[in-house]
Amino acid sequence: MKTVLVTGGAGFIGSNYIKLMLKKFNDYQIVNVDNLTYAGNLENLAEIQNYNRYTFIKADIRNRKLINKLFDKYNFKYVVNFAAESHVDRSIEEPEVFLTTNVIGTQVLLEAAKNHWKIYPDDKYSTEYNDGVKFLQVSTDEVYGALGKEGMFVETMPLKPNSPYSASKASADLIVRAYNRTFGLPINITRCSNNYGPYQFPEKLIPLMINNCLNDENLPVYGDGMQIRDWLHVKDHCEAINAVLHKGQDGEIYNIGGNNEKANIEIVRLIIKTLGKSENLIKYVKDRPGHDRRYAIDNTKISKELSWKPSYTFAEGVEETIQWYLDNSKWIENVVSGDYKNFYLRMYK
Ligand code: NAD
Ligand code: DAU
Repeated sequence: MKTVLVTGGAGFIGSNYIKLMLKKFNDYQIVNVDNLTYAGNLENLAEIQNYNRYTFIKADIRNRKLINKLFDKYNFKYVVNFAAESHVDRSIEEPEVFLTTNVIGTQVLLEAAKNHWKIYPDDKYSTEYNDGVKFLQVSTDEVYGALGKEGMFVETMPLKPNSPYSASKASADLIVRAYNRTFGLPINITRCSNNYGPYQFPEKLIPLMINNCLNDENLPVYGDGMQIRDWLHVKDHCEAINAVLHKGQDGEIYNIGGNNEKANIEIVRLIIKTLGKSENLIKYVKDRPGHDRRYAIDNTKISKELSWKPSYTFAEGVEETIQWYLDNSKWIENVVSGDYKNFYLRMYK
């Protein structure tokens, strides 16, 4: 049995990932550590909550003592670090928690992994680790900053993050790299583009627009709506992480993207059309401060070296996602009923 520490597994991507891994492999034991912020939701994991190969622990990745205890108790082979504050608009409202969770939290995990996996932990010059261990950091394409009309992000580009969120993710990305270069900790870093799919919190563009359409509420489009993102279905992202975890070369960074650039307004119009609503719902609102104009991922490295490529077309992925939200109205009702209501009012009203 291989024991995997998945952090942030009650969130959107982490919960999709845990379910995929448990289905795909019979010899994986998953320990999900999540402190259940507004974005963490155990309902996302309801179908596997009683699996004997799955354990949930409510804990904060910033809690050094507890994280070390968990490393003592479970013989983790892999760490997959999803836990983060993930929403750009919230990072503009309240940057501090982005630094503590995304940067310090990551360093807490790295230090615990180093100390528990190192064969000679007291020898600072030794770079020998237990066989096959790996720390996988789920980073983001936003660390590169923004693109103009041309070009794509490649792994060798310098990092130029523009929001407190992306700056915190870039810092985490760099500290992971430093643990590899200085201490020899086996790592991979993935930098993925915008995800969409089931269980995404409705603060993000696609589920927010679906939810507002269903409630005949205004659709708040920032600025001119011509910002471009490269959309990827969450299941394709999870498969890519799986490929990197098992086949990624030590110390390497892998971009993950959907080859699927779309302007925000195109997506909003597609959702309106699919749901049979009126474009009169569109409301152009003040732009996001520091708003990145365009992201586009060059997938060459992961597709050539690890034979991964996206399987969903955007049309089928979005249709399936809209259907999921239609079929899961109770889920969305529950997640928008708490604190999120206040955030939405502050942000949009
Ligand atoms: P999410 O906000 O849906 O989930 C984050 C999870 O982390 C939640 O369950 C939350 O409770 C947990 N968490 C937050 N702070 C924690 C802490 N201090 N200790 C323990 N758990 C904590 O985010 P997501 O969209 O699923 O993103 C997951 C990861 O993927 C993040 O690291 C994000 O930066 C990265 N990423 C996201 C996307 C995207 O499009 N959503 C794209 C690329 C990379
Ligand atoms: O690129 C990967 C990143 O994608 C991840 O690292 C982040 O965790 C994730 O949140 C996402 O960041 P974005 O800022 O690109 O996603 P968001 O869904 O917030 O916004 C997508 C685009 O839509 C962006 O250009 C802003 C715009 N937007 C968003 C919202 C919520 C609107 O026009 N109106 C809105 O109400």
